[in-house]
Amino acid sequence: MVAITTLQCTHGTLRQIKSMAVVMAGITQNNLRVPLARGTHPESKCKAIKVRIQPMNERRPFIVGLGGTTRAGSTTEQALQLALACVRRAGADTEMFSGPDLLLPMYQAEPNAGGKAGAHMIASLRRADGVIIASPVYHGGVSGLIKNALDYIEEMRADARVYLDQRAVGAIACGFGNQGPAMVLAHLRDMTHALRGWPTPLGIAINWTCNDAA
Ligand SMILES: Cc1cc2nc3c(=O)[nH]c(=O)nc-3n(C[C@H](O)[C@H](O)[C@H](O)COP(=O)(O)O)c2cc1C
Repeated sequence: MVAITTLQCTHGTLRQIKSMAVVMAGITQNNLRVPLARGTHPESKCKAIKVRIQPMNERRPFIVGLGGTTRAGSTTEQALQLALACVRRAGADTEMFSGPDLLLPMYQAEPNAGGKAGAHMIASLRRADGVIIASPVYHGGVSGLIKNALDYIEEMRADARVYLDQRAVGAIACGFGNQGPAMVLAHLRDMTHALRGWPTPLGIAINWTCNDAA
């Protein structure tokens, strides 16, 4: 069932209410009105907006995995595949964009500069309930391949669910040591905050030189 809710509020308030509604999955709201008249709020851009809220317990969540390297047999991709397999076992649908899928032109901020590049990934991210990002450690940071793919999320800047707003975001960092994966995990979580996503309580830092994950 899809509940149509009419809200009259600022975009910031709208985001907060939508976030709350999605977390409180299953609630049905009808004709909810936030009493803010045009111009009385500091954000002042009040307008009536129709919101479609589909309670998550009436459909399978959709989780997008994004990560890996272009190397055949990428261990980062294997970690992502494992995470997505766990997600499917938990009852969600998944789609993975691995290293070769992420070989996109360097993102340019000019309007329509990306053309069709990355369009499939952005379309999937738009309907995603959650995202898992997996990056190798390259010289102490997120690899350029992953960073460039994340820059394409700028295409979602004008969406009602702007960037990764309202999506749980899991992060996996893989490297040849302890220090690098810890740093990249923190970096991925910082980027998630910048993209308005919700980092999961636990992230995964993998040191491939031992068999353990921290
Ligand atoms: C250009 C480059 C830089 C790297 N820098 C680091 C590093 O700073 N710290 C680290 O722990 N591992 C580093 N590594 C190792 C990678 O993290 C490791 O190859 C990666 O986790 C495995 O990637 P895969 O998915 O292709 O198997 C580097 C690897 C490459 C190719």
